[in-house]
Amino acid sequence: MCGIVGYIGSKNAYPILIKGLQRLEYRGYDSSGVALYQHDKINVFKKKGKVSELENFCTEEETYTNVGIAHTRWATHGEPNDINAHPHQSMNGTFTIIHNGIIENYEKLKNDLAAKGFTFYGQTDSEVLANLIEYMYNEGEHVNAELAVRMALSRVVGAYGLVVMCKNEPEQLIAARKSSPLAIGIGDGEYYLASDATPMIEYTKSVVYLNDKDVAIITKNSFTLKTVDNDAAITPEVQQLELSVGELEKNGYDHFMLKEIFEQPKTITDTLRGRIDPATKEVFLGGLTEVMPRILDAQRVVIIACGTSWHAALIGEYLIEEYAQIPVEVEYASEYRYRKPIIRENDVVIAISQSGETADTLAAIGLAKEKGALVLGICNVVGSSVARETHAGIYTHAGVEIGVASTKAFTAQVTVLTLIALHLARKHQTINNERYFSIIDDLMCIPGKVESILLKHLAIKTIAEKYSEASNALYLGRGYLFPVALEGALKLKEISYIHAEGYAAGEMKHGPIALIDSNLPVVVVAAKDRYYEKVVSNIQEVKARKGNIIAVITEGDNALRNMVADIMEIPACDEVVTPLLAVIPLQLFAYYVALARGCDVDQPRNLAKSVTVE
Ligand code: G6P
Repeated sequence: MCGIVGYIGSKNAYPILIKGLQRLEYRGYDSSGVALYQHDKINVFKKKGKVSELENFCTEEETYTNVGIAHTRWATHGEPNDINAHPHQSMNGTFTIIHNGIIENYEKLKNDLAAKGFTFYGQTDSEVLANLIEYMYNEGEHVNAELAVRMALSRVVGAYGLVVMCKNEPEQLIAARKSSPLAIGIGDGEYYLASDATPMIEYTKSVVYLNDKDVAIITKNSFTLKTVDNDAAITPEVQQLELSVGELEKNGYDHFMLKEIFEQPKTITDTLRGRIDPATKEVFLGGLTEVMPRILDAQRVVIIACGTSWHAALIGEYLIEEYAQIPVEVEYASEYRYRKPIIRENDVVIAISQSGETADTLAAIGLAKEKGALVLGICNVVGSSVARETHAGIYTHAGVEIGVASTKAFTAQVTVLTLIALHLARKHQTINNERYFSIIDDLMCIPGKVESILLKHLAIKTIAEKYSEASNALYLGRGYLFPVALEGALKLKEISYIHAEGYAAGEMKHGPIALIDSNLPVVVVAAKDRYYEKVVSNIQEVKARKGNIIAVITEGDNALRNMVADIMEIPACDEVVTPLLAVIPLQLFAYYVALARGCDVDQPRNLAKSVTVE
């Protein structure tokens, strides 16, 4: 979603800001803009569309400055256009701001300000905030820019990642955060600001992640941290980034999504690294050691997540219930946070999030903590809000994921959930040795088997091209492969805009079967597992109605090969770890369909990588 970049120092800020915005493009956006302090003025340039359009727009302008802020906007209040794009300025131009998040009480604030004579040029909540700051600034006698920002924020209900420039105190940036991430990079006589670390990685490794309600006052030589409510300076906690610039490049692939699909043998290896003792094959989860007694006492596990992470959660449910024999419920975070769920102190809540910044997931974590549950996080981005807000957790170590459609993060999440289920099963003695060691062995073979599927990508490309004109698609699976069918359908709809539905194959008769005709591609995840025969029956039912079947099958399954129109093969493996293999051809299929349709694979329309607003 929206992205923030800021710079103050001695270099030319403009190229840093533009490159920073390009680094944030992956988050999803519809317009962008910059504000530059030049010759005692703050000049704003903004444009609907891609950052390249902003750059073209600025070609004839003077852009040199040492202080500037920049933004990519993902519309919430007001349509995407030049006017609603950020930065926003207050009525008299005293304040210029960029803002991520939503000001929930903006309408009331806007009416109050209008009654005091303020006028507005656009529809955004952010413009209201700029004016509220200006109002605070002009109200009191000794109110400087910093105090005005803090006073305004104390009146605000909602979320903000905010950077403010004041034309009367121009060599200073004021930044603040509540429920929307903001990081400050520390250079030598310079500071970088961004909504995630990617825009600053080539300039500095030292960063401070703001906490909720922190306010930072930054000049080129000083950095003071306070809170919205308190004037006393607090000591910032400086962290070292582990990210490298190379991780942010496509490295020869046409798209980040393709690169990330192909990285999976490595990322799954990284997720497993150090977590299975090579000698004893026992699972070791360092991040959970301290809270393990509470986890082992849990009467119930609730897993909360959104999107792809929610699909991983469903696989986690099957694994934990089957092997650790603890009841599990999986919830959409957006539902859980509002539906007055029963949360007990002996519940363990696991929040899964690639970005660690999804607003609904964070709100659900807050609720579970408030009710006394132990809350664990499974997340990818180190230092993210989920990592910081949970009591303990496990990083997935999949590396930076830039493609909006999640791929390697999903397999990393499923890998972690498999490890958790096996570990708990071992501790509860609900799994016998033979079964345990057999699953562990198969899990350790997964990276090599993923590699062998990737080698066949061109065959999947040919199939994808055949179906790229479809308007609808149905995905079916059972058991551990039901969530894989959901994930396959999600991948297709996200990046190719083909309407795709994932269904439990056993439910097909209760509705989707009505859709089947010779125009409907039906993707059936039909690997050899305990449900195989039943899935084959479902395939027969689809065939009888002339549906076109594309089946994900286990290598050597000639019976199915001869029964369906197209096949995508995966190596044989234990059914418990099959999701990690079966999802790979579906990721590739979606990618190649989107490619054939000429879609913007890495930045699909309307979607955001990190959904930081409700
Ligand atoms: C967005 C992304 C999805 C992701 C979902 C949850 O919709 O486009 O790829 O699965 O958010 O994100 P999270 O970072 O919490 O896993």
